[in-house]
Amino acid sequence: MPVFHPPKIAASEITPRALYLDRRTLLGAAVGGLGLAAASKVFAAPLAGKETDYKVTEKITSKEDATSYNNFYEFGTGKDDPVRNSGDFKPTPWRVEVGGLVNKPQVIGIDDIMKDFVMEERIYRMRCVEAWSMVIPWIGFPLSALLDRVEPLGSAKYVAFETVVRPDEMPGQKGFFQPLPWPYVDGLRLDEARNPLAILATGLYGETLPNQNGAPLRLVVPWKYGFKGIKSIVKITLTENEPPCTWNKSAANEYGFYANVNPAVDHPRWSQATERRIGEGGGLFGGARMNTLPFNGYGEQVAGLYSGMDLTVNF
Ligand code: MTE
Repeated sequence: MPVFHPPKIAASEITPRALYLDRRTLLGAAVGGLGLAAASKVFAAPLAGKETDYKVTEKITSKEDATSYNNFYEFGTGKDDPVRNSGDFKPTPWRVEVGGLVNKPQVIGIDDIMKDFVMEERIYRMRCVEAWSMVIPWIGFPLSALLDRVEPLGSAKYVAFETVVRPDEMPGQKGFFQPLPWPYVDGLRLDEARNPLAILATGLYGETLPNQNGAPLRLVVPWKYGFKGIKSIVKITLTENEPPCTWNKSAANEYGFYANVNPAVDHPRWSQATERRIGEGGGLFGGARMNTLPFNGYGEQVAGLYSGMDLTVNF
């Protein structure tokens, strides 16, 4: 197991866990404390042990695994490169430009994002296209809340995302071997982006997002393969046409624009029917083997987005 190097963020910049917690949860706790039964119903927490859309009850992956086994090619192509090589990356100050086909284009600082949007903890199953998976407690807010703020025009059909380019701080963007074209880009259809499951994350495990996981702001779309979860976002653009997607551009026969988790459509070089849960059990490569679920188990919430589409063509 690689050594964990904490990101170089001053302790004063790390927001305490309480500030991240859903204000509604805090409010609910306060109301419950006063014994107001009727009011507390409004803020009722999910039943303990019951799986909800946002809290899977499967065992949570260890923080060490989730923060040291990563894909973030800007810091290198090895799984432990992001944690080893991201110490010089500066996630603050940070500004995100949100524009394109919108009424109110704007540039928003990460501090305002933290302040203005209601942060929630969401425990999501995550499935990588490389057939491994994790269960991660994210801190973030619905992408739709940010979209509402800029007011997309009727002509907007897609949302395009772009990662920062900083060769001086991202050693994978420097040097002779460039594994991908930069900036890393990806996109969603607008109705996918508006699905309540799609979030922009600013933290995990109750803490600020470490550099290797995409600080200070990254996309999390739990029914899609992990590569759609674009990290360290600096630009969000509403467009009329389908935006480019880095992995689709680099190998269109292997990675589609939609990238919905689908055990019935194999990657040309490996099966997608099962997955290896990192940190669980033994297994040949370390990690229990389990069956992969359509839409990564979120079919009830998202299958309707694709009704009438042939998902073997639109993979
Ligand atoms: N975003 C950028 N900018 N660069 C990348 O290389 N890798 C993607 C995605 N987002 C990647 C990225 C892939 S392939 C995966 S599986 C997830 O990030 C991994 O996220 P995690 O390391 O937080 O688990």
